[in-house]
Amino acid sequence: MKLVIASNNAHKIAEIKTIIGGFFEEIYSLKELSLEIDPEETGKTFEENALLKARAVTEATGMCALSDDSGLCVEALNGAPGVYSARYAGVGHDDGENNALLLKNMQDKTLRKAYFVSCVALTYPDGKEIIAEGRTYGSILTELKGNNGFGYDPLFYSDDLKKSFGEASAEEKNTVSHRGRALAALKEKLTGQHG
Ligand code: IMP
Repeated sequence: MKLVIASNNAHKIAEIKTIIGGFFEEIYSLKELSLEIDPEETGKTFEENALLKARAVTEATGMCALSDDSGLCVEALNGAPGVYSARYAGVGHDDGENNALLLKNMQDKTLRKAYFVSCVALTYPDGKEIIAEGRTYGSILTELKGNNGFGYDPLFYSDDLKKSFGEASAEEKNTVSHRGRALAALKEKLTGQHG
C-alpha cells in the first residue's frame, strides 16, 4: 500500500515516517509527487479539517493519505484559538501577532490552563478512514519564554517538561507533543487492524 503525507513540512514528514512507516510499502510527500493540494480548512473541528485534507489527497492520487490538523485550546477563552490557531490574529498575520493577541486576551485571567491538540486522519482509496487524536497539557505564560519551536511554543508551559515548549529542544518536545501522541494512537489502531 502506498501512502501520501498531506504536508510539505520536512519535520512532520520525518516524524510520520519514523512512527508509522512500517505499515506502508512506499511513502511520498506532496512535493515528491509534484502535487499542490491545499484545500481551505472550512471545518469546525480538528477532525473535520484533517479529514478534508486527507480526502482531497486520496481523491487526487488514488492512494492512502495522512494529514494532521492541530491547534491550541485555552480553557479561559472557551477553547479559543482552537481550529483558528494559525489565523487567530487574522489571515496573513504571523506567529508574533498571534502570540501578542493571546497575551492580550489572557491579561486578566488567573485560570491559564491550556492544551495543544492534534488530530490525524488516514484515508484509504476504498473509502475507509481512521482518525486518532493526541493532546499535551500545560498553561499559558504571562510572557514569551525561549526561542525554540514555532507558533505558540514560547507561551506554552508544558506540564510534562516543566518548562515552555520554546525552551525545550525538538527532541524533548517530540516526546510529549500532541502530534507525537496522535501518531502513536494511530499506530496502535493500525497494529490492531494489520496485526
Ligand atoms: P497546523 O495544523 O500545523 O496548520 O497548525 C495550526 C496552528 O496551530 C499553527 O499555525 C500554530 O499556530 C498552532 N500549533 C499547532 N501545533 C503547534 C505546536 O506544536 N507548537 C506551537 N503552535 C502550534
